[in-house]
Amino acid sequence: MSGKRLDGKIVIITGGASGIGAESVRLFTDHGARVVIVDIQDELGQSVAVSVGEDKATYYHCDVTNETEVENAVKFTVEKHGKLDVLLSNAGVIDPFTSILDLDLDRFDRVVAANLRGAAAFIKHAARAMVEKGTRGSIVCTTSVAAEVAGTGPHGYTASKHGLLGLIKSASGGLGKYGIRVNGVAPYGVATPLVCNGFNIEPNVVEANTLANGNLKGIILKARHVAEAALFLASDASAYVSGQNLAVDGGYSVVKP
Ligand SMILES: NC(=O)c1ccc[n+]([C@@H]2O[C@H](COP(=O)([O-])OP(=O)(O)OC[C@H]3O[C@@H](n4cnc5c(N)ncnc54)[C@H](O)[C@@H]3O)[C@@H](O)[C@H]2O)c1
Repeated sequence: MSGKRLDGKIVIITGGASGIGAESVRLFTDHGARVVIVDIQDELGQSVAVSVGEDKATYYHCDVTNETEVENAVKFTVEKHGKLDVLLSNAGVIDPFTSILDLDLDRFDRVVAANLRGAAAFIKHAARAMVEKGTRGSIVCTTSVAAEVAGTGPHGYTASKHGLLGLIKSASGGLGKYGIRVNGVAPYGVATPLVCNGFNIEPNVVEANTLANGNLKGIILKARHVAEAALFLASDASAYVSGQNLAVDGGYSVVKP
């Protein structure tokens, strides 16, 4: 056995230009996958593809809030590689922390459009491609601790991630008969641009906050830890796991301090 857990697998990673998505591109290609990186940050996305080798990863510009672009990204992948085995639906945005009394509903709509509707569009078109090709595929969505616990994220973000978890469960129900699995991976705070730029906090402060507020001590949560959990859910190692939300939070979401 090669030890490569995604040998021959064709993967789409949305939000693959940065943070957890970019780390997943690196890990998945190391494990033998060929990846289509979907994002709107063209230069960054292209540079991630170049860094892992363009024989292993290709960048494709696609705004997940636009269904036509989503459909085209899936078509591009199937035309280029002949099939689609894995979707890591990971693109996401965050809104500022405000009181619910001051909720900006336009901002709320934009967060839900990217984090929930965008994932729904990708699940729909990726699953269609998997069904058409008879692929027993795996769909993994990056949720968050905010998918199950309130107060860790802003209102729009928390609502979008709770909705995403509902969608994961619901889609896993509909796709089981095709042999397609749908799961979530739920990180606690990782120092990525989403958090650092979103809340104007330095990476070391994000990491210190996660360490201080988290349950598991002596380890700093990194994008790599999340990518490893996504790899497990993407690969055949999780062949009978579906409809689950795998927390990568050191027990944060289940332990009341
Ligand atoms: N960093 C954390 O603490 C944390 C915790 C829990 C969950 N998450 C989730 O992890 C996922 C990845 O976020 P990250 O932390 O790596 O942040 P990030 O900002 O580094 O990456 C997010 C990527 O999504 C892309 N994106 C945003 N909107 C898009 C759109 N409309 N179309 C296509 N691409 C789009 C961005 O350009 C970016 O490259 C998100 O879903 C986020 O909610 C992050």
